[in-house]
Amino acid sequence: MSYVVTGATGPFGRGVVESLLERGTDPAEIVATGRSVEKIADLAERGVRVEVLDFDAVPDSVPWLSAGDELLLVSGSEVGRRVPQHQAVVDLAVRSGVRRVVYTSAPKADNTTLAVAPEHAATEALIRASGLPFTFLRNGWYTENYRPAFEQARATGQVLGSAGDGRVASAPRADFAEAAAVALASDGHDGAVYELFGDVAWSFAELAAVFAEVLGSEVVYQPLSAEDHRAALLGAGLDEGTAGFLVALDQNIAEGLLGLTTGDLSRLLGRPTVPLAETVRSWV
Ligand SMILES: NC(=O)c1ccc[n+]([C@@H]2O[C@H](COP(=O)([O-])OP(=O)(O)OC[C@H]3O[C@@H](n4cnc5c(N)ncnc54)[C@H](OP(=O)(O)O)[C@@H]3O)[C@@H](O)[C@H]2O)c1
Repeated sequence: MSYVVTGATGPFGRGVVESLLERGTDPAEIVATGRSVEKIADLAERGVRVEVLDFDAVPDSVPWLSAGDELLLVSGSEVGRRVPQHQAVVDLAVRSGVRRVVYTSAPKADNTTLAVAPEHAATEALIRASGLPFTFLRNGWYTENYRPAFEQARATGQVLGSAGDGRVASAPRADFAEAAAVALASDGHDGAVYELFGDVAWSFAELAAVFAEVLGSEVVYQPLSAEDHRAALLGAGLDEGTAGFLVALDQNIAEGLLGLTTGDLSRLLGRPTVPLAETVRSWV
C-alpha cells in the first residue's frame, strides 16, 4: 500500500510529503508526483518514489498506483481547466483500484458563492460519482496569501482592500498540509467533509495592526469600495482578470465566507493552528 500525492512539486504537496515523513511513514510507501519532478529530486534522495503525472496526459495505468493505495489529489492550479484534469486522475484511480481519494477542496464548495468554488464543487461531485471512498479537505485561506499585502504595507504603510469588516480565519499552508497528511495516513476519515480554517478570524484592521507591530512602523487599513479597489489594483499593474478575481474574493470575505471558525483544522492537527502574527514574523 502506498500514499500517492499529486502536486508534490508545489509547496502544499511537498508539505504533505514532509509531514508524512515526519510522522514516521516509510519513505518507500510514499509516491510523490507532479510535472516538474526535478523540483523534488531531494525527496527521491530520501527514498520517496518520485513519478511524473501530468493531468493533461494521464496514462491508462501506471505501475506506481495500485489496489489499496490512498491517493491525495491536490487540486491543480490551472483555473478553468481543472474539472477535466481532475476527472482524468479520478478515472485513473478507479481503474487502479485505489482504496480512497482525498481531495483538497474549498469552503462549503457545493453551497457557496465563493469565486473559486465551482471547479471544486464539480470535482467533489465527480469523486462522489466515482463510487470510491473519499475525504474532502475544504481548505480555507492560506495566511501566505497576504504576503503581497505585507510587502505593500512595508512599502506604503497601507493595507488596501474592499472586504469591509469581513474576517479571514487563515492558517499557514503548512498547517493545511499537515492536516492533509493526517487525513491521508490515519483511519476514520472515509466520507468526511472537513471545513478547514485557522482558529482565529481576523479583520483587515487587525491584519494592519499585526503588520505594524512586526514592522515597527505605522500601518493603516484603507477600506475601499469594490470599484476603487479594482482601479487601485489595475493602477498597480495587475491585469483585468486578476484584479476582478481579487475584488470578488474580497466581496466573498465581506460576506463572511472565509471567516468560519469550525475547529476542524485544529482537531485534525491535535494542536491549535499557527497564529497570524507568528507567520507574519517569519516574513521579516
Ligand atoms: N487555500 C488557499 O489559500 C490556496 C492558495 C493557493 C492555491 N490553492 C490551491 O492549492 C493547490 C496547491 O497549493 P500550492 O500552494 O502548492 O500551489 P502551486 O504552487 O500553484 O502548485 C500547484 C501544483 O499543482 C501541480 N499542477 C498544476 N497543474 C498540473 C497539471 N496539469 N498536471 C499535474 N500537476 C499539475 C503543479 O505541478 P508542477 O509545478 O510540477 O507543474 C504543482 O505541484 C493549488 O493548486 C490550488 O488549487 C489554495
